[in-house]
Amino acid sequence: FDTSHIRNFSIVAHIDHGKSTISDRILSLTRTVEERDMASQLLDTMDIERERGITIKSNAVRVMYDADDGETYQFNLIDTPGHVDFTYEVSRSLAACEGAVLVVDATQGVEAQTVSNANLAMNANLDIVPAINKIDLPSAHPDEVRAEIEDELAIPADDAVCVSGKTGEGIHDLLEAIVVLVSPPTGDINAPLKALILDSYFDEYRGVVAMVRIFDGSITKGDELHMMQANYDFLVDGVGVKRPAETPVDELSVGEVGFVVTGLKDPEAVRVGDTLTGASRRCPAPLPGYREAKPMVYTGLFPIDNKDYENLRDALDKLHVNDPSLVWTPETSAALGFGFRVGFLGLLHMEVVKERLEREFDLGLIATSPSVDYHVFKTDGDMIAVRSPQDLPEPVNIEHIEEPFLRASIICPPEFTGAVMQLAIEHRGITTDMVHLTERSVEMHFDIPLAELILDFFDQLKSRTKGYASLDYEFSGYREADLVRLDILLAGDEVDALSFIVHRDKAYALARGLCDRLKEIIPRQLFEVPIQGAIGNKIIARSTVKARRKDVLAKCYGGDISRKRKLLEKQKEGKRRMKAIGSVEVPQEAFLAILKVD
Ligand code: GTP
Repeated sequence: FDTSHIRNFSIVAHIDHGKSTISDRILSLTRTVEERDMASQLLDTMDIERERGITIKSNAVRVMYDADDGETYQFNLIDTPGHVDFTYEVSRSLAACEGAVLVVDATQGVEAQTVSNANLAMNANLDIVPAINKIDLPSAHPDEVRAEIEDELAIPADDAVCVSGKTGEGIHDLLEAIVVLVSPPTGDINAPLKALILDSYFDEYRGVVAMVRIFDGSITKGDELHMMQANYDFLVDGVGVKRPAETPVDELSVGEVGFVVTGLKDPEAVRVGDTLTGASRRCPAPLPGYREAKPMVYTGLFPIDNKDYENLRDALDKLHVNDPSLVWTPETSAALGFGFRVGFLGLLHMEVVKERLEREFDLGLIATSPSVDYHVFKTDGDMIAVRSPQDLPEPVNIEHIEEPFLRASIICPPEFTGAVMQLAIEHRGITTDMVHLTERSVEMHFDIPLAELILDFFDQLKSRTKGYASLDYEFSGYREADLVRLDILLAGDEVDALSFIVHRDKAYALARGLCDRLKEIIPRQLFEVPIQGAIGNKIIARSTVKARRKDVLAKCYGGDISRKRKLLEKQKEGKRRMKAIGSVEVPQEAFLAILKVD
């Protein structure tokens, strides 16, 4: 078996630099997908991705390319997620490749994730093909960007290809560059099977389907395989490739990328990052780099209808198959009933998971305010991990609390450094250093609590820098902080699901902001609803939702029955998204109101 005509590569980029647009261009130029079938951004299969224009799950597509040298090449194009929450998925996809196309927006230049993705690609020893995108735009400055790629990334940019994902200009040159610059895979077809699971998904009829990259050996239908980390055997029900529709093939051979139908009904059995080998003829050691993705943020997820609790558990199990970073433990709330405390890589990840649960599994859910993983040192000498405000011990039993800190890196044009520093100070951040990267970009480093970053930091950063700043971060350790639990009382009753752990210095302002915000969110009820913010027994803020007077049906004059029905229908729809807390109807956005407090 000859691997010299295979090229496995990923496209990596800072968010919005045009990775998906370029992938689509490659599919249409190679006639993998006919022009008329070309729904924009084909690789982003999930609705949520398409709507938000972001790529979340990796996807691998096989493309046949007739190159200028007269030969036909098999390209396996592995799409990677672009948001900072999903670095682990990027590194996993890169492990399946020999090369990476590094896309840089010709109008924006090198940004924080360009740097982090380039580093990931270089650490994975990949051949890098720089591509400068959006050259159709009048504000494009490809020569400066070329210089940035050399200066800031230390990647030779002589071979950089100028392209436009929009017009298609330069895409042919890019494909030629991939043939020349990216090495073909190596490996031994006669050695025992060694394949990396780079993605997987659950299918009602076929069970778990795993996307794999083969490093040694081959897979055909009927093979008996073994998963090394999960320590689990199964019989191959079929193999195929995505083009991008699933296409069965007879065999997946060394160097190739494709899918394996496992037939397994237990979503837990297949773990992304695991190594596949033969059940009887095993490779000596699994592929390196397998690690569990660590959640950063925890929120409570509660079904609006308590009957959905088991359905929510099943749905989480299913999502876990292709999202191993998702972790959860049962949580009980006096206000919301039975639910789960779920760990996420970041808030975007949380939103995406919540939306998928709601759409794909038809669940009505309430998410409660996010919390990080606090280390609470108790007076009795024990240390406990607290991920939910409800689990915080009584203040008298707390010796001290430590919170996770990040080392954040922000790149922005020099005129915004003042605004960025101000923002960091407001979020308890400490500037450690500042480097001029080029004339038009400064990189600043901060030590900042993770809890501050997960609130509205990113949106604030974007708005205060007119969208120019980019952010990247890594975990840097735990530090002591003066933290308290802020409780919210509705109509005099404490609502546990609205509690929040905050820094003492910020508690008053947050409590006031939150009370005002909740007053707007909670609709008027038949009676007056006081909202109070409290630390322990001390009330530190309050507001009131006034009583409602109007009857919805009053304006219908009893006449038009269909209109009446519509109104009632609308009311019901509104109700679906509400949760009765004691006697108060609370809409779901109230539980995340903390994210919207200035
Ligand atoms: P994520 O998947 O979210 O990381 O984004 P991406 O890097 O895949 O970017 P995407 O392809 O979604 O492009 C981002 C935006 O830039 C979209 O609005 C595209 O239409 C636009 N865009 C992409 N390529 C070009 C180009 O060559 N020229 C112009 N003018 N716009 C482009």
